[in-house]
Amino acid sequence: MKHDFHYTMSRRGFLVVAAGAAVSASLRPTRASAVDERQIKVGPGQALFNGANGASTAVWTYNGTVPGPALRLRQGEPVRITVENGLDEDTTVHWHGIRLPNAMDGVPGLTQPPIKPGGSFTYEFTPPDAGTFWYHPHADSLVQLGRGLAGPLIVEEREPVVVDRDLLWLLQDWRLTADGQIAGGFGGMMDASMSGRVGNVVTINGEVPADLGVRAGERVRLRLANASLARMMALRFEAHRPVVVAVDGQPCDPHEPENGRIVLAPAMRVDIVLDMQGDPGSRHAVIDDFYDGLAYTLANVAYDKGPPLRAHPLDAPVGLPRNPLPAPDLARAVRQEIVLQGGMMGGGKLKGLGGMMGMGMPGMNGGAAWAINGMSMTGDGHAGMAPQFALERGATCHLTMRNETAWWHPMHVHGFSLSVLSRNGAPVPHRQWQDTVLLAPRDVIECAFVADNPGDWMLHCHVADHQMAGLMTVFRVK
Ligand code: C2O
Ligand code: CU
Ligand code: CU
Repeated sequence: MKHDFHYTMSRRGFLVVAAGAAVSASLRPTRASAVDERQIKVGPGQALFNGANGASTAVWTYNGTVPGPALRLRQGEPVRITVENGLDEDTTVHWHGIRLPNAMDGVPGLTQPPIKPGGSFTYEFTPPDAGTFWYHPHADSLVQLGRGLAGPLIVEEREPVVVDRDLLWLLQDWRLTADGQIAGGFGGMMDASMSGRVGNVVTINGEVPADLGVRAGERVRLRLANASLARMMALRFEAHRPVVVAVDGQPCDPHEPENGRIVLAPAMRVDIVLDMQGDPGSRHAVIDDFYDGLAYTLANVAYDKGPPLRAHPLDAPVGLPRNPLPAPDLARAVRQEIVLQGGMMGGGKLKGLGGMMGMGMPGMNGGAAWAINGMSMTGDGHAGMAPQFALERGATCHLTMRNETAWWHPMHVHGFSLSVLSRNGAPVPHRQWQDTVLLAPRDVIECAFVADNPGDWMLHCHVADHQMAGLMTVFRVK
């Protein structure tokens, strides 16, 4: 993939010097106009969570909708996405989970200047991996994500996968007031130091869920993406046996989830295959029971009364083709450790921290509540963030993440997918790669990746409050 990165980088250079483009253009093997061009305008809008007759909620949108438009890209084909900022504050777009050149990663200060109000920025990359990804801001992240800025990004496989329907549920959690508006009070210290801003309304693709209409006998690929600020989910499909075929966009060995529960922390994606084996006319709940005692029915699978589409489940294999991820060389790996610290009930306040590095996040009413290896980096990303560690390009990094807090943390790495090796000493099966790994309180996770992509990369908790309040760091690939 190294070549792709270079290729994209130099094309970017070419754009900058567009006036002298003749030579560069003649080097292009195919039609220059073949580059996939997209436009995204960020700006305020209105959402109808309860359909056309319900109340409208003031939100922030990509191209006028919540969630933003589903971007469908093609694996290995370059795309150029121009983002125009119609907000009154800086923004950026981060292409979550896509392995792309560092300059396209969307972290303000660290990888690009923020997009000013009225300004624009053109992102260019060639997605190396097929799968389910998403995009969101990386500036004023808690507020911008919390006001609705998120959209699905699907990279299509080169050969179509055999299913009857390919569906996507982008899940968002909102904290709404009684009159249906987004509650203020972002970044309060209670949210920041505990479980984050968990809301009171969950939407699927921007609407309070109605039934998912299905036909008996059909096979559905359902792409689940949790774009919530803080809400963790564990979905059970009553009377069905979903098969997990990809996690965080990366195909894994197909398997049924443990206890039938599909755990989705913020920023995680899981692709499942569902063979619809219920009876025509029947209805089955989809239950989210992540939080003890707070289970609720998220949606219902509702079968059409018509006869089954086929008598037996489709016998095409459910497995997806693997992506071209570089294989870690564990025998020669460089070991690094990340220790998560802080939060309420984690031994009181941040204790015994050496170099507290409150990078001054105006508007956060508490500052740091969390730390990684004794250091708190708060906010969204800044110029000059000192890397926690540096890796030689091409080296395998064996990364241990140790959660010393009393809280759950979906730890997300930019620019790479992690081969997840073990959880609390037990091997993780199914050859799973993830860009977001959920750590339960006290969990220890071991994973590995090849540092093949140069730049300064973020590693942070994707509970937005936790990230803003210090659970973030940076590492460098030289
Ligand atoms: Cu989806 Cu740095 O995040
Ligand atoms: Cu990311
Ligand atoms: Cu966290």
